[in-house]
Amino acid sequence: MSRVHGHLQEFQAMADEHGDRAAGTPGYEAAAQYVERQLESAGLDSTRQYFTVDDDGEEFETFNIIAETEQGSDEEVIMLGAHLDGVPGGPGINDNASGAAALLEAATVLGAQDTVTNRIRFAWWGAEEFRRPHGSRHYVRDLEEEDELESVLAYVNVDMVASTNPVIGVYDAQAADASMDIPEGSVKIMRFFADYFDARDQPWVATDWDMASDQRPFVRADVPTGGLFTGSGERKSRREADVFGGTAKAPRDPNYHTPQDDLDNVDLETLDIMTGAITHAATTWARDSSSLE
Ligand code: TRP
Ligand code: ZN
Repeated sequence: MSRVHGHLQEFQAMADEHGDRAAGTPGYEAAAQYVERQLESAGLDSTRQYFTVDDDGEEFETFNIIAETEQGSDEEVIMLGAHLDGVPGGPGINDNASGAAALLEAATVLGAQDTVTNRIRFAWWGAEEFRRPHGSRHYVRDLEEEDELESVLAYVNVDMVASTNPVIGVYDAQAADASMDIPEGSVKIMRFFADYFDARDQPWVATDWDMASDQRPFVRADVPTGGLFTGSGERKSRREADVFGGTAKAPRDPNYHTPQDDLDNVDLETLDIMTGAITHAATTWARDSSSLE
């Protein structure tokens, strides 16, 4: 079994034990410890960044996990992130154990390489599944306060990358109807993934991405942003079904935010495609970030 499939199996086992991976619960803590152990064996140090969530007056503490390469200038950092928390009452395997696992694979591959030119920083965000993505928002604010946000050259978000009725989606940096101003430089990230898929004859589509997830605080702070997405509750178009197979007019993930978002309802081949892309991004940019300039 591939490492990334193994990670998903572990996330499912933790959900079987604890019920879910919701922010502030034992299931979240178990998932966090799993990520930390994996990072440690990959030779990457990680830290927890604690913050308080105020969810309609109900306050609790939770945390992000941040890990980065030792080498590379800390004034030029490329960030990749995935939320680790899930909705209450379900295993959250596509949303977002898939992204957390793909990111873990990229970090593991990068951790094994001896020379890194640029600093790559990975984030497993806490508390995304709320009206606001609390963990990433806290992180961006913290960097703004320290005057360190300038050091982040790019952010790539990985949220839901194993949908059963999938598209291979790249965040559309040219979306005319986006509700936010898309930072300059975002197109280069989109182009990077487009080139990667094109070179492998892998069809892809530009996908809407101005929904609530961890890219938003970065976009709002004008950091060049991109990401990968294989679909949630929205319906697959006829054209997408022609290109990617699957069922037109059906949701791209019929189990989105339900207790059935489990290991039986993910597409592992899709996860492998997206894991390859995210690993390629991390390892390429670690050596050479000219495609982002
Ligand atoms: N943010 C949603 C969640 O975590 C998932 C989602 C829906 C999404 N559409 C998106 C994520 C587009 C990124 C891009 O539940
Ligand atoms: Zn999500």
